[in-house]
Amino acid sequence: MNSIFRRISVRKYEDKPVEKEKIMQILKAGMQAPSACNQQPWEFYVVTDKKKIEALSKMTPYTGCAAKAPVVLVSAYRLEGLVAPAFAQIDMSIAQENIWLETDALGLGGVWFGIAPNEENMEKVRVLLGLPEEVHVFALFALGYPAEHREQQDRFKPERIHFIDE
Ligand SMILES: Cc1cc2nc3c(=O)[nH]c(=O)nc-3n(C[C@H](O)[C@H](O)[C@H](O)COP(=O)(O)O)c2cc1C
Repeated sequence: MNSIFRRISVRKYEDKPVEKEKIMQILKAGMQAPSACNQQPWEFYVVTDKKKIEALSKMTPYTGCAAKAPVVLVSAYRLEGLVAPAFAQIDMSIAQENIWLETDALGLGGVWFGIAPNEENMEKVRVLLGLPEEVHVFALFALGYPAEHREQQDRFKPERIHFIDE
C-alpha cells in the first residue's frame, strides 16, 4: 500500500473545507480495523466548528497546530460490554492508523495528537465537547488539504530484524 511509505504528519492545511464524502470514507477505513474479539470499541466525533477546533488546539502543549485545521476528528471508545476491555486502546491505535493512511490515500494530510493514555487530557477533551461520561477520548486527528509536502523519513533498520532459526 503506497500510503504506508508516503504518509507523513501534516500540520499545515489549505483554507479549504474537506468534503463530507471524504470524511466518511476516512472513518469507514477506521472502522474497518481489526480489534480484539472484533469488539469495535470506537466512536468518532467530527469537529468542524472553528471555535471548538481552536479550543481543542489548546488541550495539550503539542496540539497547537490543530488550530487552523478545517476538521478535527476525535476518536473515542466505550468500555461497557467489551469482551476484552484491556485491549481497547490498542484497537483504537489500529483504527487511528487506518484513518491516517486513508487520509493520505485521498490526497489529504493529517496528524495524530496523542490524548490517551493521559487521563487528565482525556477528561479535558471529553468535557470540552460535552461527550457522555462513559466515553473515553483516545486521540485527536487534524486533517485537511495539505499546505506542506515532504518525503517520508526512511526508518528501515535491518539490524532491528532478528531471525530466530533452528
Ligand atoms: C501516538 C502518537 C501521538 C502523537 N502526538 C503528537 C502530538 O501531540 N503533536 C504532534 O504535533 N504530533 C504528534 N504525533 C506525530 C508524531 O510526532 C509523528 O508521527 C512522528 O514524529 C513521525 O513523523 P511522521 O508522522 O511525519 O512520519 C503523534 C504520533 C503518534 C503516533
